[in-house]
Amino acid sequence: MRTYLVTGGAGFIGSNYIHYMFGKYDNEIRIINVDALTYAGNLENLKSIEDRENYTFIKADICDKDTISRVFQENDIDRVVHFAAESHVDRSIVNPEVFVQTNVLGTAVMLNCAKAAWELPDGSYKADKRFLHVSTDEVYGSLEEDGGYFYETTPYAPHSPYSASKASSDMLVKAYMDTYHFPANITNCSNNYGPYQFPEKLIPLIINNALQGKKLPVYGDGKNVRDWLYVEDHAKAIDMVQEKGRLFETYNVGGHNEKQNIEIIHIILETLQEMLAEDDPRKALVSEDLITYVEDRKGHDRRYAIAPDKIREEIGWEPETMFKEGIRRTIQWFFEHEDWMKNVTSGDYQKYYSEMYKV
Ligand code: NAD
Ligand code: DAU
Repeated sequence: MRTYLVTGGAGFIGSNYIHYMFGKYDNEIRIINVDALTYAGNLENLKSIEDRENYTFIKADICDKDTISRVFQENDIDRVVHFAAESHVDRSIVNPEVFVQTNVLGTAVMLNCAKAAWELPDGSYKADKRFLHVSTDEVYGSLEEDGGYFYETTPYAPHSPYSASKASSDMLVKAYMDTYHFPANITNCSNNYGPYQFPEKLIPLIINNALQGKKLPVYGDGKNVRDWLYVEDHAKAIDMVQEKGRLFETYNVGGHNEKQNIEIIHIILETLQEMLAEDDPRKALVSEDLITYVEDRKGHDRRYAIAPDKIREEIGWEPETMFKEGIRRTIQWFFEHEDWMKNVTSGDYQKYYSEMYKV
């Protein structure tokens, strides 16, 4: 049975990935999830799988090298999928240091511990071991409004402390591949959306605020462009890269779904209006009047757009969820998980670990 070590599995993409993997492989794999449970980690995301015999949760910081190296010593890890990171650009502008700590130092610890566990005396590696570093399109910087795409060969030009820390972590992974022939891949993905996304990010924030009749903050002129991908498509891409990707390669992940932020907000408002029942009191609250232009994000990248040619041609991955369908599924999920949102916004989700694990 193959053993996966997933870092940051209690976060948005990590928890979706774990659900995807158990849905696909069921009892054929084992997953160990290492997560520090920062404000972004929520074990409620994993409630439905937490009792599986082939799932283990370990509360640990990826910067804690003794604990991480023990996880490798005590388990024969075959695959690492490294999600754990500080992920929110706005927070990185306020407090950059924790981004350097987790994203750069934490990645170095993960690489070192995996290398120590997998390397043979002659410098080669145990068979069939792979490390996948989950990164972002933000490392490439910003594109002009009127054209161009991010390719795997696009030079790195990060602007925010978040993207600078992710770029640094990518460079470390590249250095391990070049220097030690360490068996790794990097994926650079565009903006994800879907279930379990923390409501500090644009799409869940707009859904949650609109349903409560709260203001919808739009940074700057609202015309910044992001390339949106349904999170399950990202989970599938990660799995396919580990199964079919060439080692030492970088793969960009995205689906040519570029939209201005203001367009996203209009689509969410229209979709909410379509989906809410006539007698639902929230219907009267959802309104374009809530749109409020606010001060721009510092150093706000204008446009991101992924060229996904390499992953499509080499691996056969393509996004399956069109935006209209993905946004409906996301909204439906939020309708069905009002308690999840209440627990997150009240902070109660942070009690879940101590209640569940009696610590
Ligand atoms: P998230 O903020 O929702 O989750 C991050 C998870 O990492 C949380 O569970 C948190 O508790 C954990 N974590 C943070 N610091 C840790 C530490 N020191 N030790 C152990 N665990 C720690 O993030 P996300 O949106 O799920 O992103 C996951 C990864 O994917 C990140 O590496 C991010 O850079 C990358 N990414 C995100 C997007 C996106 O649109 N969200 C797009 C491309 C790439
Ligand atoms: O591109 C991939 C990246 O996407 C990931 O690497 C990051 O982890 C993830 O957080 C995301 O970064 P963004 O900064 O693009 O996402 P965010 O949801 O914070 O913002 C999306 C856009 O919406 C951005 O142009 C800023 C704008 N925005 C955001 C918020 C929260 C607003 O206009 N108003 C808001 O309130």
